[in-house]
Amino acid sequence: MLDKVIEAAQIAGEIIKEGYRKNISVEYKTNLANLVTEIDKKSEEAIINFISKEFPGHSVLAEESGIKERDSEYKWIIDPLDGTTNFAHGLPIFSVSIAVQKNDEIICGVVYDVMRDAVYSAEKGGGAYCNGRKLEVSRNDDLRKSLLVTGFPYNIDENPDHAIERFVIFLKNSRAVRRLGSAAIDLCYVAEGIFDGFWEVYLNPWDMAAGKLIVEEAGGVVTNFKNEPLDIAGKQILATNGKIHDIMLELLNSV
Ligand code: IPD
Ligand code: CA
Ligand code: CA
Repeated sequence: MLDKVIEAAQIAGEIIKEGYRKNISVEYKTNLANLVTEIDKKSEEAIINFISKEFPGHSVLAEESGIKERDSEYKWIIDPLDGTTNFAHGLPIFSVSIAVQKNDEIICGVVYDVMRDAVYSAEKGGGAYCNGRKLEVSRNDDLRKSLLVTGFPYNIDENPDHAIERFVIFLKNSRAVRRLGSAAIDLCYVAEGIFDGFWEVYLNPWDMAAGKLIVEEAGGVVTNFKNEPLDIAGKQILATNGKIHDIMLELLNSV
């Protein structure tokens, strides 16, 4: 199964590479910040065609076309291009994120970091890998020596869920906070031990499903801000190396 998920992500990755820095059409979703390009749609179409051919009975939840519920215990959760704003501006940080759930449990996760040609993958219970190299989260237990990453929703002008106050708190209490623009890549970099922690207040299931499993299989911890098991429909996410999880929870809840 994992090999098939990787194949789907790579097919999509080729479409994205071909469209990168080309004159492609861009539309707005909810506002001027929230874009969708023709490449998001082509990438999603290619992944869904692949699934229809290889696993015709499986359900699909995909960002651009929504849910196709079938009578199956398997569901594919797809972000065909995570980091659309970066892609549209020619900043080479974007990915394809695909997870497979079996009876609501994520059993496979693949994030393809397109421009680095890096395939991040995990299978439940089987560890996490990047191009065959085993991943492990960092061992840093000091927030003040931590490199953190976050992202902001497209309605940040409304400051949902105290996003801005939470950002300021971590700016003041960590070594630094980065904002890459692809939540799926943020999660993979936690799994790889590059970032010690990642939080975001308003994500969608397709942003986090694959990366969640990759972080956990690399030895990290992923919860909501109440320290409950992550519900991928629950918007909030905290993913860390485990060692700074409690202090990050405390600060997230101090606003
Ligand atoms: C976005 C990215 C970004 C995050 C946003 C997401 P998209 O996904 O993951 O890092 O901060 O909340 O919506 O729109 O590029 O697929
Ligand atoms: Ca996304
Ligand atoms: Ca997307």
